[in-house]
Amino acid sequence: MRPELQRPRGTQDVLPPHSWKVEGMRQLALAVARRYGFEPLETPIFEQSAVFLRVGENTDIVQHERYAFRDAGGVDLTLRPEGTAGAARAFIENGLAQQPQPVRLCYWGPMFRRERPEAGRFRQHTQFGAELYGSELPFADAEIILLATAVVEAAGLTDPVVRLNSIGCEVCRPRYRTALIEYYQGRRAELCEDCQVRLERNPLRLLDCKVDVAIRAEAPDIADFWCEACRTHYEAVRSLLERAGRTVRRDPRLVRGLDYYTRTVFEVGHPSLGESVALFGGGRYDGLMESLDGPKVPAVGFGMGIERLLSALEGRFVATPLTPVYVAHLPGFAEEAQLLAESLRRQGVAAEADLLGRSLKAQLKDASRRTRWVVLVGGREWESGQVVVRDLEQGSQETIPYDQLMQWMGIEAAQVPLSGRRWAAADQRQD
Ligand code: HAM
Repeated sequence: MRPELQRPRGTQDVLPPHSWKVEGMRQLALAVARRYGFEPLETPIFEQSAVFLRVGENTDIVQHERYAFRDAGGVDLTLRPEGTAGAARAFIENGLAQQPQPVRLCYWGPMFRRERPEAGRFRQHTQFGAELYGSELPFADAEIILLATAVVEAAGLTDPVVRLNSIGCEVCRPRYRTALIEYYQGRRAELCEDCQVRLERNPLRLLDCKVDVAIRAEAPDIADFWCEACRTHYEAVRSLLERAGRTVRRDPRLVRGLDYYTRTVFEVGHPSLGESVALFGGGRYDGLMESLDGPKVPAVGFGMGIERLLSALEGRFVATPLTPVYVAHLPGFAEEAQLLAESLRRQGVAAEADLLGRSLKAQLKDASRRTRWVVLVGGREWESGQVVVRDLEQGSQETIPYDQLMQWMGIEAAQVPLSGRRWAAADQRQD
């Protein structure tokens, strides 16, 4: 295929059966979020560029990695690089601040960042995210982290380690910032090119550098600068998480790539992904609503990379065959097979029949690859209102009256497509 006709760099086609895993994960994430009281939100995939510029002008994500365009009407638009800004815009625009608080919303969908593609880093990725509005209590931060860890655990990852930090507030962060600038200025000559720029523009991001690690190791720790309120908040989040059975490690270098955070920031990684690649990350952002001309509403949330989560699970998140029933037929009964398949579908069972004019042998071979039950149509049995049913899982076969078919297969056949719960259960079975 000519290069200009291929999919853009850093994007993916999600094909079956993997696409079923993605769908199963979506259902699973939503089911877990429901247990915590979160409700689904959908916002446009593009927003007016000002929405992102307001909340993250000094970040790489907004400054260098935006897919931005001007439409034919001259409106500046941006494909969303993340979900928090659009969700906050929707919260304000739809007056959700006037509803009983807290408001708990979650979302699932594609995000776009023009990053350098590498393992686990795409230009279009899928995020499951959740945002909790209206509570400034540390319990809200903990609830968000408990939800995110519950999702990865339900998906099959055991004991996620939460890297936790607080980047302070408007009281204590400026003091830390000054100390950080002072420290880095003293070592300016040793800094990499990127850090020279960070020192001028966004000093906190100096802690994110993967090059100047030795310099970073000796940098001042924000914990020594936290005000009393920030220290108490951090301790309360940590304490609740630990009492709820989560493993928490304080990471003094964790600052996150977006500007809007206040106090709590967190990330969870996975050994298979490498040190700088997170499964999910997030934090508190009490000032973001105001930067979008909204009311002062405290908020906290996370975003989870679904491609990364599925890759960390390394195929352990399994999908059961899509079509439980294959209606095979003897020569001359092709149309009957189609009609029987349709009748099963109308009763809620996923069923299929041959569309390629194959021989019975070829049909059975096809069926054996991806189905549990084969129903055979034709012959003397058919004439007397019966069908031959083969259970490929049990290795058994029976001739039964046509109207007992559903009963014979049991209720299980009617459960396709499977719920997220069953997918997770299948996953545990494999362990
Ligand atoms: P983020 O850390 O930029 O935060 O992204 C959240 C998650 O999305 C990451 O932890 C990662 O798993 C996944 N992700 C990000 N970029 C890529 C990429 N290029 N390829 C694959 N996966 C990626 C946010 O987006 C914030 N909106 C999170 C948040 C919500 N904070 C508060 N509320």
